[in-house]
Amino acid sequence: MTRALVTGATSGLGREAAVQLARRGWRVAVSGRREPELRETARLVKEAGGEPLVLLGSVTDPVSVKAHYALIEKAWGGIDYALLNAGVGDMMDAADEFSTESIKWTFDANVFGVCHWIEAVLPGMKTRKSGVIAGVASLAGFRGLPKSGPYSASKAALITLLESVRIDLRGTGVDVVTVCPGFVRSEMTARNEVESMPFLMETPDGVAAMLAGVDARRRIVHFPWQLSYASKYFLPMIPDFLYEPLAQKFAHKRKKKPSAR
Ligand SMILES: NC(=O)c1ccc[n+]([C@@H]2O[C@H](COP(=O)([O-])OP(=O)(O)OC[C@H]3O[C@@H](n4cnc5c(N)ncnc54)[C@H](OP(=O)(O)O)[C@@H]3O)[C@@H](O)[C@H]2O)c1
Repeated sequence: MTRALVTGATSGLGREAAVQLARRGWRVAVSGRREPELRETARLVKEAGGEPLVLLGSVTDPVSVKAHYALIEKAWGGIDYALLNAGVGDMMDAADEFSTESIKWTFDANVFGVCHWIEAVLPGMKTRKSGVIAGVASLAGFRGLPKSGPYSASKAALITLLESVRIDLRGTGVDVVTVCPGFVRSEMTARNEVESMPFLMETPDGVAAMLAGVDARRRIVHFPWQLSYASKYFLPMIPDFLYEPLAQKFAHKRKKKPSAR
């Protein structure tokens, strides 16, 4: 029986992914910081036909991640499928609220949280010469987006890191997939301060696209196509001298409500 791990499984894409993987009859270890939400995901996994394992804690804490992996080893002997999805996002207008703290907070979860888990699952996968590590980045990582510096930069770092790791792991039997969603309904998009989210996908559809891409072992899984082709292929081709004034002009308008982390 496939042994899967889903981080950030207390809500949004992570919870839905855990349930969709459980429908395959898989074992699904779920991680997150909010205990009631995590236990609810575990209940949904069981209801869907999977075998849950609850891992309560933060991906930013390497000690906790090591302890969680030890629990997985003890219960199941290892992980075959790691969906490293936990992430945070906040807006920052660098012109009037540049904050190193916000950048560190974002990188801690979105980049180092993924690193901690790769470090934990990789030795076992290499020994068994099989496994897949899928990291959830974002279409926001293909170009520096206005008012989203910390998020955009963290996802760009993740995309590049996963590409390097994928190259290094060629021939080892361990596959690395980079997932770049556009807007998908979740707690994150509900908190989103931007006024419009073009081509917003419903959570089950976004997750189905994500898992289909991982199943196919695509290097980069990006969706929905309307936004992803523009973000991945068109935006990077626009010369900087055109991109920057255009990006400033069409920068997302923010709603009035304050940011919630
Ligand atoms: N929804 C979108 O439109 C969209 C688009 C592109 C990329 N993404 C990416 O998709 C992933 C999932 O986001 P979502 O949209 O589903 O948002 P969400 O509903 O807010 O879910 C985020 C998940 O990450 C977990 N998390 C955050 N910080 C964590 C930490 N330090 N340790 C452990 N878990 C942590 C949260 O759990 P706890 O709070 O319980 O810890 C939660 O389960 C993120 O990486 C996000 O950047 C989303």
